[in-house]
Amino acid sequence: MSTRQSQREALKVQIRWMIRRDMNEVLKIEQESFDFEWTEEDFLSCLRQRNCIGMVAEQDNHVVGFMIYELHKNRLHILNFAVGPAMRRLGVGAQMIEKLINKLSQQRRQEITLEVRETNLSAQLFFHQQGFRAMGVLRKHYEDSNEDAYVMQYRLDGHDTSDTYVSVNRISKYQNWSEA
Ligand SMILES: CC(C)(COP(=O)(O)OP(=O)(O)OC[C@H]1O[C@@H](n2cnc3c(N)ncnc32)[C@H](O)[C@@H]1OP(=O)(O)O)[C@@H](O)C(=O)NCCC(=O)NCCS
Repeated sequence: MSTRQSQREALKVQIRWMIRRDMNEVLKIEQESFDFEWTEEDFLSCLRQRNCIGMVAEQDNHVVGFMIYELHKNRLHILNFAVGPAMRRLGVGAQMIEKLINKLSQQRRQEITLEVRETNLSAQLFFHQQGFRAMGVLRKHYEDSNEDAYVMQYRLDGHDTSDTYVSVNRISKYQNWSEA
């Protein structure tokens, strides 16, 4: 067994609802992970929405990763997702995605979507490894850096629906498309 595999087994995390008390550790991971990070108010106003869920990955009573996602009629949409720098490449992110996939069902929500910055290659590789596929580009999606966003999608049935998506470059259209 490789060192990484044995570390990974040691790094089995518990994934649970995010609570107010987690916010300091979540904000620290957020600041260490992104150039254009969410503020505490961004987290709180998002989590106040009825369809917005926050979860943390915890090990030894410390938050080592978190995810924020929205519930839509037919899909889950990841808004924010990060693992603390010291805890990366140990399978924490993969365990959080596994948890989300387990929330999908054949009857109702069958897909998970997200946007990732074009420059964020490591996240693109990570999500690809988890079974997500790029399905479109949102041109100049981020106001802060003017970067494009790649839309990535995981489907329970494995069908690639990118044909229905070509050239859509407004997020509102993309949301409407998926609710249809
Ligand atoms: C992307 C991120 C969440 C991945 O979390 P993680 O816990 O390190 O991922 P895992 O250890 O579960 O990785 C699983 C697999 O994904 C792939 N992967 C993960 N990070 C990778 C990287 N930096 N480069 C290439 N492949 C990577 C690998 O195949 C990895 O398996 P391996 O370690 O056996 O090679 C983490 O790097 C992160 O927090 N990044 C900063 C925040 C961010 O970009 N969030 C996404 C916003 S859309």
